Parts: sequence; structure tokens; C-alpha cells
Amino acid sequence: MKLSIIGAGAVGTSCAKWAVVKEVAQEIVLVDIVPGLAKGKALDLAQSLPLLSRSIKIEGTEDFSALSGSDVVIITAGKPRTPGMSREDLLKVNAEIVKACTEKVKLYAKDSIIIVVSNPLDAMVYVAYKVSGFPKNRVIGMAGVLDSARYRYFIAEALGVSPADVSALVLGIHGDHMLPLVRLANVAGIPITQLLPQEKIEEIVYRTKYGGGEIVSLLKTGSAFITPGLATIEMAESILKDLKRVLTCSVLLEGEYGISGVFLGVPVVLGRKGVEKIIEIDLLPEEKEALLACAKACQDLISQLEL
Ligand SMILES: NC(=O)c1ccc[n+]([C@@H]2O[C@H](COP(=O)([O-])OP(=O)(O)OC[C@H]3O[C@@H](n4cnc5c(N)ncnc54)[C@H](O)[C@@H]3O)[C@@H](O)[C@H]2O)c1
Repeated sequence: MKLSIIGAGAVGTSCAKWAVVKEVAQEIVLVDIVPGLAKGKALDLAQSLPLLSRSIKIEGTEDFSALSGSDVVIITAGKPRTPGMSREDLLKVNAEIVKACTEKVKLYAKDSIIIVVSNPLDAMVYVAYKVSGFPKNRVIGMAGVLDSARYRYFIAEALGVSPADVSALVLGIHGDHMLPLVRLANVAGIPITQLLPQEKIEEIVYRTKYGGGEIVSLLKTGSAFITPGLATIEMAESILKDLKRVLTCSVLLEGEYGISGVFLGVPVVLGRKGVEKIIEIDLLPEEKEALLACAKACQDLISQLEL
């Protein structure tokens, strides 16, 4: 299996590192337009192989033809946020970058599955879908796995329990309208509504929604990259190893949840074919309304794009 990562910045490098640690592919390629950057990162990473007792082929390059034969291509190329910026502020600049990268994927790795990470996420997956012309099961966005991990962590922290025992999901757009579902969040099967007071739950939901911004304002230069990289590799691993994991990913909705024509985060089954099934859960009227607000926010972004 071959995994390629476009963009050897913070998130791309984190993806490559976790891919090596979790041994998700036999070959890993990092591509970036900055001369020497991908090659340097790849060399640094390759030198961890003796310590990890792994034999993986790792290459870094500016030459996009190295994407050839990739099973999965992750696109992390693009500007990250700086303090005070919203993800939406990156729309125009990152659309051009994602477009350029997708054209290369189409040229060199036309049978691959694309995972987009660049922000604003749900609009950038749409760009990759339109530009690649790939079927919808092969163009997927990463956000829900990260947002759900943040949500699960904050619940575990509030209760003083292991994050491993917290199960929860965040639906919708990767932005302020995202929808951390309270009703289905649980600790070892026990609903959080029976474990935490309402005010604490509201605080956790708020912190989850703005979890990315909290890190941006602390880092001051750049955005989160450690867990974003791992969340992306969770998805890539499920595809490359055909694990059929149920993960919340940004996928094209065509009638599911009463929404069409936009990419939004919903639970899906990820396997060797990419998105193998979209799982539709029954939502309460207020949850449905919140998901429709996500669809509208995404539609507003898409309508600003010239593709
Ligand atoms: N979906 C999510 O949950 C999530 C989480 C974190 C970050 N992000 C997004 O991921 C993106 C990358 O973040 P980062 O922190 O790694 O940024 P970064 O600046 O560290 O890295 C971006 C890299 O992209 C490269 N690049 C730019 N144009 C390119 C092109 N045409 N071809 C190849 N490479 C190109 C740059 O040279 C740079 O090395 C940002 O848009 C950020 O907002 C998304």
C-alpha cells in the first residue's frame, strides 16, 4: 500500500509520523513545493525507522510524479489560521492551492482515494471533488474524527475518566456551526446527561466548537497539528487496511439527512473502496435544524468559489 501526503508543513509531517508509527503503508511519499522541505522531513522521519524497527520506504520530493501508484493521497497543502482568523478567511487562497494539488492527483494518481485536510474543510473537499472528477466515495474530508476526539477528551477531563471510555460524535461543518451531539454522547454506554450537569455539558459543547481556535490563540503561529495528523491517519488506516471503521467524515450528501450537493460531516463506513456507506441516524427536530444550518453555511462558502 502506498500513502502520499501533499504539504510537508505541520499537519502533513504529523500525518507522515503517525503513518509510520501505526504502520499503515509500506511506502510513504511527502510532496511540497518548497525546495528541500519534503525531502528534509522525509529524511528526518526515515531515521526513526531503526528505532521503531520498521521497514517502510519514505520519500520526500517537489516532484508530483512521485504520487504515481498511490492508494491514498492526503491533501494538507494550504495556509493555516493565525489568531483572529476564521477558517472561512482561508477560502480563496486555499481553494487555489487545493485545486492545483488535485490537478496533480488527477494526473498522477487517478485511481487513488483523496482525503482533504486543508481549511475551510468542507468547501475544500468540494473543490477536490469537482476538480478531480473522482466518484464521491473517493473524495473525503477530515474534520469529524478530530472534532469528536476533542469532544471526547473534554468529557473525559470533566469526569476524571479514561478518554478511551468516552464515545461521542460531532456532525456537520468544520466551523462554528458544528454539532456536537449531546444525546448520543456516553461513557461506557452511560449517557453524559446522567453524569454531568447541563451547564457543564454546555461548556464542553462550546469548547469543542472553538477547540481549534483555542489552540490557534495559544500557538500564535499556525494551528493544531498533532491530533489532526492522527485523526487523518485513522481514516487512511481504515481505508488502506479495509477496517470498515465507523468514522465521522465530510462526504457528499445526496439526499441523506434531507441535504443535497454539499459536503458535511456524518458517520460513514470507511474501507478499501473509500466511503462504503453513509449512516443516517434519526435526528431530533432541533438537531436536524442545526444540520441544515451547517448545510447552508457550506453552500454559502461554495457559492463564493469559481471552479
Ligand atoms: N481539517 C482539519 O481538521 C484541520 C486541522 C488542522 C489544520 N487544518 C488545515 O490544514 C492546512 C495545513 O495546515 P498546516 O498547519 O500543516 O500548515 P503549514 O503552513 O505548516 O503547511 C502547509 C504546507 O503546504 C505547502 N503548500 C502550499 N501550497 C502547496 C502546493 N501547491 N503544493 C504542495 N504543497 C503546498 C506549504 O509549502 C506548507 O509546507 C491548513 O489549511 C489548516 O487550516 C485542517
